[in-house]
Amino acid sequence: FSTPGCPVIIPTPAYMPFLLVPQMHGRDLIELPAVRDPDGRAALDLAGLTTVLDRVGSAVLVLCNPHNPLGTVATREGLVALSEVAGRYDVRVFADEIHAPITYGDRSHVPYATVSPVAAGHAITAMSASKAWNVPGLKCAQLITSNPVDEEHWREIGFFSSVGTGNLGMVAAVAAYRDDGGWFADVLEYLDGSRRLLADLVSEHLPGVRFTSPEATFLAWLDCRELAIEEPLGAFFRSEAGVALTDGLACGQVGAGHVRLNFATPRPILRDVVQQMGEAIRRHS
Ligand SMILES: Cc1ncc(COP(=O)(O)O)c(C=O)c1O
Repeated sequence: FSTPGCPVIIPTPAYMPFLLVPQMHGRDLIELPAVRDPDGRAALDLAGLTTVLDRVGSAVLVLCNPHNPLGTVATREGLVALSEVAGRYDVRVFADEIHAPITYGDRSHVPYATVSPVAAGHAITAMSASKAWNVPGLKCAQLITSNPVDEEHWREIGFFSSVGTGNLGMVAAVAAYRDDGGWFADVLEYLDGSRRLLADLVSEHLPGVRFTSPEATFLAWLDCRELAIEEPLGAFFRSEAGVALTDGLACGQVGAGHVRLNFATPRPILRDVVQQMGEAIRRHS
């Protein structure tokens, strides 16, 4: 779905493999750091994207929505604006929507390919039951085409991926989407409670750490730049607090001074995690 030499634009911070896979396929990688929207939330830098596209002309853009690691959910207006920019240039949008079911409150996920015919014409969408129903080990992602040309192309190239899918994964995906009997609704309620608890725990135990409660996902993006800890933060919290986090730098240059915390864990463990991080910070200062 892209030609050799076509650069891949990755909005950052990003899910870590997005920063590794393009180069494995001989594609140049362009990091596009997030900007703040008028409400102070991190957002895609459309002006920056236009500047990059003026230079490179044609590109693949990886749109992760809901966003790992920021936990943001794009609005329909934001997606329409993106599709207009992408449509003006020769852009293929790879929409990774794997976290789509995990949104909180009144934020709901809008599939990119549905916002306009232009978007449907250049989108390839990836989904999986693996995040919401916790079945990544069963290996059954879904690739969704949204126009006849891509559908035909997938028929030509998709054979090995399609037959490589595990049968158990297919059965699990159907069961998750169709017959989960309310299991995921309970999980979402629990995660939402943990998300709120995490906000309280961070303000109680992690002074100086900035945290914007996510609108989606089970991931928290913690801004630790005020802590002035020199060594890589992931290594610091692992050795000093016994807590395994993702170092923000693995999510791109803009992730320096941040960590990504997965809060999909029982609440007693989440309490220990944040308390131990707080103790490590206090011992350090
Ligand atoms: C945005 C995103 N895409 C893809 C994946 C990979 O999914 P899986 O674990 O099912 O291979 C993940 C996993 O964390 C993810 O967050």
